[in-house]
Amino acid sequence: TRTRVEDLASYIRDVPDYPRDGIVFKDITGLLVDPDALTEAVDRLAALVPDDVELISGMEARGFIVGAALAFRLGLGFVPVRKAGKLPPPVRSATYGLEYGEATIEIREGTVPAGARVMLVDDVLATGGTAAAGAQLLEELGAEVVGLAFLLELDGLGGRERLAGRSVSTVLLAGS
Ligand code: PRP
Ligand code: MG
Repeated sequence: TRTRVEDLASYIRDVPDYPRDGIVFKDITGLLVDPDALTEAVDRLAALVPDDVELISGMEARGFIVGAALAFRLGLGFVPVRKAGKLPPPVRSATYGLEYGEATIEIREGTVPAGARVMLVDDVLATGGTAAAGAQLLEELGAEVVGLAFLLELDGLGGRERLAGRSVSTVLLAGS
């Protein structure tokens, strides 16, 4: 039998000054390795997904873990949004700004049926740059992004503002 996990946040560890000074890294490996916490996390994410969603999409790398588990939980397919250079052509790319430098993500053209109702998921919402770029890519490929769901939202980094106008829901909220 499964123990009910009351405090899911306690399974996420803060690592100060990683990967750079001043950044507090949210380490979810303790949540992933615990079967009850993982099940609870995926159940709570599943509760955020509207009934009419047709596909789950998630961003490499941690968005693959929670996204694929969520898709399986809901009996839906999964669309991977990959970091640049991992997919054979034809791909659609989006480049977005990070705190330092920039990043490029890609989806393989033809992966998403036109008009598909997609829920985009990731482990953490921080500045929202990754999620905004992922949602934009999916829409460029003809998907309808009906919402975004995150395991953990970091307050005060502008993620909500970056995703203004979109339906955003999160399991846990943390001060940053
Ligand atoms: C992390 C996290 C989110 C993103 C959130 O990914 O998993 O995808 O940052 O930050 P943002 O809201 O400011 O864009 P990262 O690319 O660092 O690493 P990962 O490959 O382990 O997912
Ligand atoms: Mg990530």
